[in-house]
Amino acid sequence: MILIIYAHPYPHISHANKAMLAHVADLKGVEVRSLYELYPDFNIDVVAEQQALSRADLIIWQHPMQWYSMPPLMKLWIDKVLSHGWAYGRNGSALHGKSMLWAVTTGGGEHHFSLGDHPGFEVLAQPVQATALYCGLSWLEPYVMHSTFICDDETLSQHAELYRQRLLAWQESFNG
Ligand SMILES: Cc1cc2nc3c(=O)[nH]c(=O)nc-3n(C[C@H](O)[C@H](O)[C@H](O)COP(=O)(O)O)c2cc1C
Repeated sequence: MILIIYAHPYPHISHANKAMLAHVADLKGVEVRSLYELYPDFNIDVVAEQQALSRADLIIWQHPMQWYSMPPLMKLWIDKVLSHGWAYGRNGSALHGKSMLWAVTTGGGEHHFSLGDHPGFEVLAQPVQATALYCGLSWLEPYVMHSTFICDDETLSQHAELYRQRLLAWQESFNG
């Protein structure tokens, strides 16, 4: 099962993330949990989230980039749901062996993220990657949709088709 943890503060005005979800919604074995719709009061049901994660083989964190990071409810979800003794620490092995895909959209283009000589985007991905690895998740190459500020709907749709292809390819290799 592929579980998409979706964190968009304004899902009704999304273009990029909406297109991505539209391209994968009909795939078998894909479950979407839209955090801002489930928890408008930020009162996360930790047990329900952990149960959903336990059912998943591939976990996706999908969100728009906000201030070079993630929307606040995504961060709160990580703080609450990836708890000690469950996701890490003593007996904390619930996520071991599962895979993680970070699916992020950005307003800026690829070069917007350069920091001097540093490849900026890879630097920004490190906290997410480190979190995944710390919980024993296997880190997949992120799916990134850059330049959403300047993309028209047709271009977004073409990018979103690549998202669908990533999920299909993963399902194919997982099912052998
Ligand atoms: C509060 C806020 C902060 C943002 N910060 C960034 C940023 O740091 N870098 C960037 O490239 N885009 C940034 N953006 C742009 C969003 O990432 C972009 O609008 C989003 O990925 C488009 O996806 P959507 O059509 O699904 O909303 C920001 C947007 C908002 C609302």
